[in-house]
Amino acid sequence: MADAPKKPRRSHLVPWRTAGSASEAKVTGDEVVRDTGWVFNNEVGSALTLDQFVASGDAEVALYMERFGINTEDAAVQTILELGSGIGRMTAAFSRSFGKVIACDVDPAFLERCRQTVAQKGDVQRLRTSQVRDGHVIQEPAASADLVFSYITLQHCSPEDAADLVRESWRVLKPGGRMILNFRTWVAQDIVLVPAGAIVRAVWRLPIVGQRLTGRRWTTRLGWQANRLGLDEVLRIVPDADNIVIWKHPSRSMKSSPALQARRTDRDLDIANRSHWWIDAQKPKG
Ligand SMILES: C[S@@+](CC[C@H](N)C(=O)[O-])C[C@H]1O[C@@H](n2cnc3c(N)ncnc32)[C@H](O)[C@@H]1O
Repeated sequence: MADAPKKPRRSHLVPWRTAGSASEAKVTGDEVVRDTGWVFNNEVGSALTLDQFVASGDAEVALYMERFGINTEDAAVQTILELGSGIGRMTAAFSRSFGKVIACDVDPAFLERCRQTVAQKGDVQRLRTSQVRDGHVIQEPAASADLVFSYITLQHCSPEDAADLVRESWRVLKPGGRMILNFRTWVAQDIVLVPAGAIVRAVWRLPIVGQRLTGRRWTTRLGWQANRLGLDEVLRIVPDADNIVIWKHPSRSMKSSPALQARRTDRDLDIANRSHWWIDAQKPKG
């Protein structure tokens, strides 16, 4: 029997594979941060350190945990699954608060670096890493996490992978658990950025030229503009979700179809990027 045709997912993974390979060639965490850290927190410079890099994650984790109300004493006995952990910018802080942390990423080299980051800046005894197979399958059993958290990751996936990863996040949640996922919505610049991103990803597929362009900061920043999954699409993936809160910048209003409007409450999140929104939803207790 002929193999089923593969979905065109791969070019979305190019920037991560390239940065992951580059990180493998480095010896210290400081070197990794100087060379590839910008793919995570946009900072560049020859004087960057792992300390500064992790401090940026610590500050964000503290704010988000406080705003989402997940900085409870229960955290110490909970398992958090971080989808798109990268090299552990935020994972180190999670490992200091949660009983167990499952760091998931598509790139195995990032996960290795994540382990090193957490060993230096967090509690590595609480960490397990798990590669996301083919960029869309979380290799963890159903009902294995109390919380699934993802930040600046789903916007970079193909629309199919992003939708699969929402489904997978829901699958691995325990009954009563919470899924807190970050997305990006449309802004005016997207009229240029999104088509330019598609062109760059097509160029990345070309022999020689494509190879030369991967890993350049400007192409990466265009090529990773991969999807703007909408609120309706996400809500339809989790038809049984309870207590749905949509967190968004105060200047934004989020629209969904009238049928789905009643399922959700909107809350302002002043620390959010103007183009970001989050779904925060609870899995029914059973
Ligand atoms: C911009 S970085 C953010 C990392 C981390 N959340 C942070 O804030 O530092 C996006 C991360 O998502 C990962 N990623 C991209 N596509 C993915 C996919 N389809 N499945 C799992 N991880 C993915 C990348 O390898 C990268 O580590």
